[in-house]
Amino acid sequence: MKDLATALSAANAAVFTELGLDPKHADVRRSDRPDLGEFQANGALAVAKAAGKKPQEVAQSVAAGWNATDLAETPTIAGPGFLNFKVTPDALAKRAQFVADDAQAGASAVETKRRVVVDYGGPNVAKGMHVGHLRASIIGESVKRIYRFRGDEVWGDAHFGDWGFQMGLVITALEDELGGFDDRAKLDARLKTLTLEQLEAIYPAYAAKVKDGDVDVRDRARKATAALQGGNPLHREIWRAMHDVSMAAQKRDFASLGVNFDLWLGESDADPLIADMVKDLEAKGLLEEDQGARIVRVAGPGEKKKKKLDDGSVVEVESPDPLLVVSSEGSAMYGTTDLATIVQRVRDQKPDMILYVVDQRQGDHFEQVYRAAAKANYIAREKLEHVGFGTMNGADGKPFKTRAGGVLKLQDLIGQAEEKARERLKENEIGADFSEEEFEDVAHKVAIAAIKFADLSNFRGTSYVFDLDRFMSFEGKTGPYLLYQAVRIKSILRKADEQGVTPGPIAIAHESERALALALDAFDGALRTAYDKKAPHFLAEHAYALAQAFSSFYTHCPILPSEGAVRASRLALAAAALKQLTLTLDLLGIDVPERM
Ligand code: ARG
Repeated sequence: MKDLATALSAANAAVFTELGLDPKHADVRRSDRPDLGEFQANGALAVAKAAGKKPQEVAQSVAAGWNATDLAETPTIAGPGFLNFKVTPDALAKRAQFVADDAQAGASAVETKRRVVVDYGGPNVAKGMHVGHLRASIIGESVKRIYRFRGDEVWGDAHFGDWGFQMGLVITALEDELGGFDDRAKLDARLKTLTLEQLEAIYPAYAAKVKDGDVDVRDRARKATAALQGGNPLHREIWRAMHDVSMAAQKRDFASLGVNFDLWLGESDADPLIADMVKDLEAKGLLEEDQGARIVRVAGPGEKKKKKLDDGSVVEVESPDPLLVVSSEGSAMYGTTDLATIVQRVRDQKPDMILYVVDQRQGDHFEQVYRAAAKANYIAREKLEHVGFGTMNGADGKPFKTRAGGVLKLQDLIGQAEEKARERLKENEIGADFSEEEFEDVAHKVAIAAIKFADLSNFRGTSYVFDLDRFMSFEGKTGPYLLYQAVRIKSILRKADEQGVTPGPIAIAHESERALALALDAFDGALRTAYDKKAPHFLAEHAYALAQAFSSFYTHCPILPSEGAVRASRLALAAAALKQLTLTLDLLGIDVPERM
């Protein structure tokens, strides 16, 4: 069954056609002014010109053509020719009943199934996961779930950063620490005791050296990177040890965040394809020599930007910049592994679409990669999409840092959120009678709900300020508020069950029953928009609107104290609300506890 806006659109289109008006302008949408009408159509304005009439007149003839139907009352006219619709209680009850009975809670599936790879998370080996990867993980996980739920075949891929210069840097640091790699026994012993904490300390120290102009370290690290990529067995062995230590820690982090991948691949997994890919690019005449490096130009004719040189003068250069495929040391770069990964995905997943859920500041990089991929005929440009997002900022408006100025580790962030969740639960006198295990489980779920919902309630392109106190509030537009509402419905349903009360056919009488049924109907529209725009934010909005509609329904329409058919109908509405809210939260990656 289609949602009410779709049904109204179809009925309105029939009226348009009847009147000789172009039905493509007959769309009926949810109104942004529900006080004037629940649904509205603006198309009379668009078709008036072609019909040579005033919009008001057109609207009047449409309204007259509608009469009253089972679906809606005769529309009213507002302003210059807007049509406002009010659906009938019967149509609403039918739709709510459908949602109540439907395993997908009223959601529609995609018409044409696609094969979709979602590239998200993207942590770097030897760097640990920090909050920079938090948004990529949260948004990517939700996008993956939304696509899968609507029927696409979806692969989430972590695309670990494990093949670049940073690997050479850490190998160089280890070489200094051990005074060279000649003593095998010493090296083996060191690799056995390697921890992520050590890698996390080594990496920034050596990255800082290079940044401060230590040419010796830079050159050795470049050589080490080239040796690793060239297949030097010693370098591969050291790399493997670092990789495994990082990967194990990151798997733990992802698990505690409720993020899971189908493919735990990384840049390094594309390495075996690089040599052939370079040959192929060469054969296609796409590779150019550029100061010892090899590049693919991706700018079209006339695509230029102004660039300021070191001496202050301004020149025009091609834009986007060329993609650097082989460095002057012969190494693969960030863009090289991304391009080879496209070749790999085309071979293995045969995707209709690859979504890259990555910080929007990497937009230029992806534009280069996508254009190069299209030029080389690996995949069509329109099958590649960068799903960019803004930053999570500190109170100073800059990307979030710890008080000490460092990047906050994901585990520490989750730990802080759990601590706050415990406090809030205690303040709200929740969980005094729980076992310690259950209390901890609830605190964890509240913490993750707070972090994820705070993120997803913003449109992904918008940056937001990290404010744990606000995220963790039990009131307002927060994750904990939504969990609390869901758990409240669970407890009502449990009580009903104990009293032997069962749900029955849904009827819509009271205004707040009406509002709740309208909220239930809106799920599919929100889901489709979230899908089309790759923006879970629309589902976050829906979750909040639904929770509020339930809350107001529950205030005005007592369930268990009422009787007979009314009680059975209200109970069915409550159960439908719980099912849809739980499902919506799940699509956001948020788990609801049994009680709290
Ligand atoms: N590792 C990268 C970073 O930390 C993110 C990877 C994003 N995905 C990709 N295919 N490039 O910035």
